[in-house]
Amino acid sequence: MMSDFTPQARLYCAIDTPDVARAVTLAQEIGGLGLGLKLGLEFFSAAGPNGVRQVLDAVGNGAMFLDLKYHDIPNTVAAAVHAASRLGPKIINVHATGGQAMMAAAAEAARKGASEAGHPPPWIIAVTVLTSLETDDIKRAGVTGSVTEQVVRLATLAQESGLDGVVCSAHEIAPIRQALGPNFLLVTPGIRPAGADVGDQKRVMTPRDAIKAGADILVIGRPITAAPNPAAAARAILADIQNADG
Ligand code: C5P
Repeated sequence: MMSDFTPQARLYCAIDTPDVARAVTLAQEIGGLGLGLKLGLEFFSAAGPNGVRQVLDAVGNGAMFLDLKYHDIPNTVAAAVHAASRLGPKIINVHATGGQAMMAAAAEAARKGASEAGHPPPWIIAVTVLTSLETDDIKRAGVTGSVTEQVVRLATLAQESGLDGVVCSAHEIAPIRQALGPNFLLVTPGIRPAGADVGDQKRVMTPRDAIKAGADILVIGRPITAAPNPAAAARAILADIQNADG
C-alpha cells in the first residue's frame, strides 16, 4: 500500500518508558531523523495527555502513533478515541474483538476529534490477536481455529468496519494481504535488525524482510532505544528499509 512512503514515514520508534524526561530525551535524539514515535499504555498511564504533548513539542509535532488499544462498549471507545484524536496522532488503535459497531464508532470519533482540533484525520487501525498469544492460548479463551485464521477473520472485520489497517506480526502479512489486498495498512512490531537482541519477542523478522514481505510500517523499540547511540541505530534501520525497497 505504502510503497510511495519515504523510509522515515515507514518507521515508528516505540518509546516505552513511564518517565517523561526520558521520553523527551529519546524523542530529541531521534526526532531529527523524521521518523515517527509510538507512545503506548505504559507511557500514557504514567504521564497522560500532558506527557504526550511534551513529547510532541520536543519533536516539533512529528508523526505519533498513540498505541492505546481501546476495547470497551462503542460509546465509551468513541469518547476515548475522540479525546485522544484531539492530541493529533497520525495513528491510533483499538481491539478488533470489540466488534464492528465499536470499530465504526471509533473511526467516526477519530475523524471528528482530529478535525475539531485542527488536525488531519488519523489512521485508525485494529489489534487482531496479540503477538504474545499462541493457538493454545486463544483456544483456552474459546476461539476455534489457528491464530492465523483468527487474525485474518478479525482483519477482515476491521476492513468491513471502515478501519485503515491492522497491527500484525510480520509472519501474518502474507495471509492478510491475500485476503484483503494491497490497500490496507499493515503495521508490524516484533522487528529485529540482524544480530540484535530478541528480548521477549518470539516471532521476529528483520526490517528488510518485513518490508519485502509487504509491511507498510515497522514499529521498533529496544533495538533503537537501548542502543548506545539511538540515532545511529535508527539511521541504520532507515537504510535497511530503503535498501529493501530498491
Ligand atoms: O522493543 P520492541 O521493538 O520489542 O517494541 C515493540 C513495541 O511494539 C512495543 O511497544 C510493544 O508493546 C509493541 N507491540 C508488540 N506486539 C504487538 C503490539 C504492539 O510488540 N502485537
